[in-house]
Amino acid sequence: MCGIVGAVGLINCGDTLLDALRRLEYRGYDSAGIVTHNGNGFEIARSVGKLTSLDSLVRKKPLGGNIGIGHTRWATHGGVTEENAHPHIAADRVVIVHNGIIENHRQLRSRLEQVGHVFRSDTDSEVLAHLYVDALNTGLSLTEATRNVLDAIEGAYAFAALANDYPDMLVVARNASPLAIGLGDKASFIGSDAIALAHLTRRVIYLKDNDFAIVKAEGATVFDVNGISVERDEVIVAASPGLVDKGGYRHYMEKEIHEQPDAIAHSLAAMTGTDGRIAAPMSREQLQGISSIVMLAAGTSHYASLVARYWIEGLARVPVTCEIASEYRYRKPVTNHFSMAIAISQSGESLDTLMAMRHAAESGLQTVGLVNVPGSTVAREADVVMPTRAGPEIGVASTKAFTAQLTVLISFSVALAEAKRVITPERANKIHSQIQALPGLVGRALTSFNSIRTISHDLASARSALFLGRDVLYPLALEGALKLKELSYIHAEGFASGEMKHGPIALIEDGLPVIAMLAADELLGKAASNLREASARGGNIILLTDERAVSEVDFAQSVITVPYIDPLLAPILLAVPAQILAYLTAVEKGTDVDQPRNLAKSVTVE
Ligand code: M6R
Repeated sequence: MCGIVGAVGLINCGDTLLDALRRLEYRGYDSAGIVTHNGNGFEIARSVGKLTSLDSLVRKKPLGGNIGIGHTRWATHGGVTEENAHPHIAADRVVIVHNGIIENHRQLRSRLEQVGHVFRSDTDSEVLAHLYVDALNTGLSLTEATRNVLDAIEGAYAFAALANDYPDMLVVARNASPLAIGLGDKASFIGSDAIALAHLTRRVIYLKDNDFAIVKAEGATVFDVNGISVERDEVIVAASPGLVDKGGYRHYMEKEIHEQPDAIAHSLAAMTGTDGRIAAPMSREQLQGISSIVMLAAGTSHYASLVARYWIEGLARVPVTCEIASEYRYRKPVTNHFSMAIAISQSGESLDTLMAMRHAAESGLQTVGLVNVPGSTVAREADVVMPTRAGPEIGVASTKAFTAQLTVLISFSVALAEAKRVITPERANKIHSQIQALPGLVGRALTSFNSIRTISHDLASARSALFLGRDVLYPLALEGALKLKELSYIHAEGFASGEMKHGPIALIEDGLPVIAMLAADELLGKAASNLREASARGGNIILLTDERAVSEVDFAQSVITVPYIDPLLAPILLAVPAQILAYLTAVEKGTDVDQPRNLAKSVTVE
């Protein structure tokens, strides 16, 4: 989604801004731009497409000055054109970059046009620049003008502005969209996240909702919603060397798939007590008090919650409801029978998930943030943080964050079941030892990488595919289908195997790829029968299974085998070949693996 960067106090900051924008590329974008102020006026460069286009513009005509802002745009209002690319400038007086949506932009624009403002883009964002000019024209200072602008706008946003009359300061503001201020040595920076600033500083201030700040080379002054100067904590973010490094792999996604043993091991460590046993970041009494849970998430994180529902209900006998975050608060859910809401988000910035969590908090539920990005908004606002430690995930398609989420969720399920004394110590110990074996077993599952190439070669020419699974593997079928469609643009649907006969089996025709997930569990016989029905109708069965279940199936055209694990944990191991299959199919098709079309890494609009 849109990325914002800014710098003040660095000589010729154009290159620094471009470098910071590169670090935000993973968020997804379709145009980009930079503006600097050279002491006399603005110098601006904008272009459609990847940053390489902007880079060549800046090479031909370097941007001078020691203050500037930059932006990667993911189009929401207005097409992908240079006119709609940020920064937006009004009356040669104010430039802005913006992430989010100004919901009342139409009314504001028509009011401004009536008093003579001329708009050059179709974006909602441009109203910000004109609102500033309007306010400055009445003689207000930049701080007062900002208060005026914030009073006028509605929606979720983070923005930065630079005014011709104040060429030594940036102004930034946020409401629900992320924004970080970086403090350096005689220079300050802004970024949509700390990743953008990791090469510049580790000292970061996160603004709270409705805060704004004046950022100068020597530091930042933060104001609250009433315009009162307030202190916000400075935090030291973890150093992340190699952040934008593909580590010798062709794509970030390939690297992140291979990082899963580490991601799982580190996430498991966060759920292990000093006695070496599984522990949740809550006291035994708190766990015992949990009567029912609602899980709030989007996309892959939602599928992780669907897997966890089987675990929490099956092991701990606690009722769970899984909600698609974007639907949750608007349907006015009944919340009083839940005691806890778990918001699951890799980025911790998905606006749908954040808003759903806030709704749950306002309804009186205790909130738990299961997040991968420390310091993200969900992490900061949740009552309890249950971290995944997968490390930065740059590829837009979630891989290591998903298996890390599952690792934390199975650990939480066991801890909950133990606290409630509804699991025998033998069963808890067995699952515990299987969880600890995960990093090694996932490492072995990764060895299937090359053998999947031939299958993906054929899959690349398919127009459509089905993913089937039963029990804990049903949500994995949904996740497998999402991975294939978002990466390779092949239409794919996930179904519960047992549901096929109720309708979807009509889709099966000769040669249709059917990617089937099977584990050696008590439903193996039934699940295999469901697949046999698909095979009998011409489906091309691609089986993802474990070493034990494989002997039960003699009708698959292709088989990918992972090591045997307790079937409860099979989604974590079988996620690996599902990810590899989607990855290699996308490579075969030549799509943009790390930044698939139309997608953004963290979706900060509703
Ligand atoms: O950062 P989040 O976990 O909140 O993101 C949720 C979804 O946007 C994300 O999982 C998305 O579906 C990915 N593209 C899946 O690969």
